[in-house]
Amino acid sequence: MGQKKLIRFEEIKSFDNVLQYPEGMPGTWSSYFNNELPLTLELACGKGEYAIGLAQLFPEGNYLGIDLKGNRLWVGARKAKALGLRNVAFMRTKIDQLTDYFEPGEVSSIWITFPDPQLRKSKAKKRLTHPKFLRLYQQVLTAGGKIQLKTDSPSLYRFTKKVAELYGCTVIDDLDDVYAAPDLPDELRIRTHYEGLDIAGSNRIHFISFTLPGIIPGKEKDAELKEWVFNQDTGAEKEEDGDEEATE
Ligand SMILES: C[S@@+](CC[C@H](N)C(=O)[O-])C[C@H]1O[C@@H](n2cnc3c(N)ncnc32)[C@H](O)[C@@H]1O
Repeated sequence: MGQKKLIRFEEIKSFDNVLQYPEGMPGTWSSYFNNELPLTLELACGKGEYAIGLAQLFPEGNYLGIDLKGNRLWVGARKAKALGLRNVAFMRTKIDQLTDYFEPGEVSSIWITFPDPQLRKSKAKKRLTHPKFLRLYQQVLTAGGKIQLKTDSPSLYRFTKKVAELYGCTVIDDLDDVYAAPDLPDELRIRTHYEGLDIAGSNRIHFISFTLPGIIPGKEKDAELKEWVFNQDTGAEKEEDGDEEATE
């Protein structure tokens, strides 16, 4: 590991706006932020541009960026400190463990920003809008809490639309080309590091937001989704798929 990362890992331990694999958090987020404001998560936050941007735009909310990589969280946490933002924090953990950190209904909404699209069919279950993850989100989200995906991946966008359709989600907004939309709200103008990289090369950013049904359908729909995934050509089997395994 490089010297810079080692220094960041040491420094981040003393940041009061970063929690690393914390214990005993469910039900305590209001006291952590010292107010009763609604809590929004940014999943796969990387350097946390969205969590920070939203915290600046909406002082009447609390924002928590979640990612595995301490090295990236360090960047966001340092920026949030420099900006003096008290309504944003970061948590280092696996999204797969989300239910260990929140009580049912403790989360008001979720942003998923430019997650690894996991284009290989065999990795579909790792896509952060796969029903496997929606079932986790449902356990922490307040009823009617929005899930919002911003992505440059046409495949992940199509997949998410299919999931929303198959599983009876209510789509609130659906923008095939975010920056071509008239009257784009400020929160959709926040740009992240990965947005700037344009890895998908599509030169287009997609957005979809939706709420979950009361009961997320089970096995029959999972089988239907699996078949749909199998029949899609994401052009992916040859592509490198992101970096979810890295834990630095
Ligand atoms: C493509 S990057 C996007 C980062 C940031 N949202 C952006 O747009 O610049 C995906 C991020 O997801 C994180 N990630 C992937 N799988 C994860 C998981 N299971 N739990 C937590 N973080 C994960 C990676 O560490 C990485 O920072």
